[in-house]
Amino acid sequence: MSDHLTIVDHPLVQHKLTLMRDKGTSTASFRQLLREITLLLAYEVTHDLPMTTRQIETPLEEIEAPILAGKKLALVSILRAGNGMLDGVLELVPSARVGFVGLYRDEKTLQPVQYYFKVPEGLDSRVVIAVDPMLATGNSSAAAVDLLKQAGATDIRFLCLLAAPEGVARMKEAHPDVPVITAALDRQLNEKGYILPGLGDAGDRMFGTK
Ligand code: URA
Repeated sequence: MSDHLTIVDHPLVQHKLTLMRDKGTSTASFRQLLREITLLLAYEVTHDLPMTTRQIETPLEEIEAPILAGKKLALVSILRAGNGMLDGVLELVPSARVGFVGLYRDEKTLQPVQYYFKVPEGLDSRVVIAVDPMLATGNSSAAAVDLLKQAGATDIRFLCLLAAPEGVARMKEAHPDVPVITAALDRQLNEKGYILPGLGDAGDRMFGTK
């Protein structure tokens, strides 16, 4: 495991991921499991958030206590599947600001096409967590990070549920400064750009579409 890639090999994460991979898992359970896993991944992705201290009084005495520093974190969903990861992160960091990047994948070229971009102000002074459950070819992810950098972001972390080696390599080549945090690194992509063994189309499975 390199610094660029962190696999969260926690028993609860791995157990829940197995349930998500199972094609018999219902839409409702899939959505709930994604929220739960994301919360656990969010704990990992925020482990080095900048800290400061604040003088407070406990009922017993005064102390200089640790507290998060700087502006509120920015959470950016890469539409549409990224929306399934918002609640898990927001449960842990309720004050995070939230942005959206709309990119769809051209099924023929597998290249990303932008259709929406709305992010919190002051990205240059926020920790930015981009979320998308599936890091497949990495083309959309790299393009989304390009847009976030153009908007001023300098501290970006990429949080996903599953990654393919091809996607990790693409992200490392395009954005070596952006760490990737995932629950698992799968074997490969198929000819249609799906992750194997994977879990199918994350958006379809969480929203019950086909
Ligand atoms: N997007 C998905 O939803 N699933 C994959 O396997 C690859 C990309």
